[in-house]
Amino acid sequence: MTRDADAEGRSASQVLARLRELRELDAPTHGGRMFAYVYDSGLPELDALAGRAAELARPLNGLDPLAFPSIAAMERDLVAFVRRAVNGHVRRAGGPVVGTVTSGGTESCLLAVKTARELWRRDHPEHPGRPRLVAPVTAHAAFQKAARLLDLEWDPVACGPDGSVRAADLVSRLDRDVALVVVSAPAYPSGTIDPIATVSDAALARGISCHVDACFGGLALPWWPETPVWDFRNPGVTSLSADLHKYGYAPKGVSVLLHRGRARRRAQFFATTRWPGYPVVNPTLLGSRSAAPVAAAWAITQRLGPEGFQQLTAACVRATRQIAHAVGGIRGLAVLGAPLGPALALIADPSVPVGERVDPHRLADAVGRLGFKIQHQPGFTQANGIRLPRSAHLSITPVTEHLARDFAVALANAADAVRGQGRPAVGAPLAALRALGYGERGRVPGPTAAWAILRSLGIRKNTLPGDQAGLMALVEELPAPVAEALLVELLGRTGEP
Ligand SMILES: Cc1ncc(COP(=O)(O)O)c(C=O)c1O
Repeated sequence: MTRDADAEGRSASQVLARLRELRELDAPTHGGRMFAYVYDSGLPELDALAGRAAELARPLNGLDPLAFPSIAAMERDLVAFVRRAVNGHVRRAGGPVVGTVTSGGTESCLLAVKTARELWRRDHPEHPGRPRLVAPVTAHAAFQKAARLLDLEWDPVACGPDGSVRAADLVSRLDRDVALVVVSAPAYPSGTIDPIATVSDAALARGISCHVDACFGGLALPWWPETPVWDFRNPGVTSLSADLHKYGYAPKGVSVLLHRGRARRRAQFFATTRWPGYPVVNPTLLGSRSAAPVAAAWAITQRLGPEGFQQLTAACVRATRQIAHAVGGIRGLAVLGAPLGPALALIADPSVPVGERVDPHRLADAVGRLGFKIQHQPGFTQANGIRLPRSAHLSITPVTEHLARDFAVALANAADAVRGQGRPAVGAPLAALRALGYGERGRVPGPTAAWAILRSLGIRKNTLPGDQAGLMALVEELPAPVAEALLVELLGRTGEP
């Protein structure tokens, strides 16, 4: 019989060597070269502590905090930490602010929508239809996902070309059929803090739930200077999400969702005794869940305390200002709107002649070749025809400060290399797709056709093109269902053995 290495397994050192080899292919998670996906405190000892805490909690199952009281204790501490940071600890009308540790921003957003939908159904038994979910177009896509999964009507409100939404435009949509209005602190694509005070007051007056999505900024804004009042100090804010795996510097898999009042939080739960197994009572979407990220986040918050967060946020503030200043000195490049940070979106400066503008996606590709990753965001035409320009997103983390000067030089050099080039042409692939009838009467390519199209664009399995400006330009021009089918295929192939 021949020896079958796959059947026999490998030694531990071989396994780890292989993993190290695979990890070599990954984008750098530390050191300040990534301006998306990862949030680096720049403190290696904090990561080491988080790793040790995660290992201690690794065998646990968050399904039942009564069987594993250590999880309940850590979750209580995390909820208390975040609640204090977002001013939910002061007792006000509506009952105590209470909350849940979830697996991430998307789960917190889904649960905020589920809660609001349950309460709306309870309070509007006479209403036959689906409730609406109102939010600026810049609200995170997780809310579109929630609307689809939970059967609400997604009702996006247009922003100005600078990415900011007018409070009056949101308020004018608030009617009896609205289950939830969402505002962000800040919105990921634009870095803008929505007009939370006005919108939450209006929601309160109409008895409508109002969620502040602070998944991104919830653990930076509490220590950021000169912020508007964006948190539970607004009496109309009924729920708020803040991700510990973003500016809480924890490994992925941990966020907090807070509600004003116990009754609201209870509406988040799923419970059933109507099956022959153990009684199921879940505050979250998952059943069995890992306690490792919870323990890591808990250790980090215990180690840093509010003062540690204040210091890390101060580094983010300095880095944001340095980078915004550097962008101001680059001809043809600008920051979208007037964000506080820690998110910035870079755009082509509309105030200079076209030939001197820096296309942000060409810039992202060029700065990528210099070792920095900034994130392409396609331009977006809203229902009213107003276009949000294509941009490059930057999440600025404490570690950014160490490399801010190098990054500014790289940005300037990259801008020089691409200035005046404009967006890549996509006429040929667009014409080819149109000739095949895609986009007409809802026609979208299936897996084989979509893959053939991607291959004709030079895309191969498991690799993204080094330059993404062309792909993004196509995404901007294609009808959304066709673009979505192509991107699903791109990701879908990645998971195939
Ligand atoms: C404002 C906002 N909300 C929600 C999310 C979703 O978070 P996650 O990727 O953790 O699911 C993000 C992620 O960037 C975000 O920025």
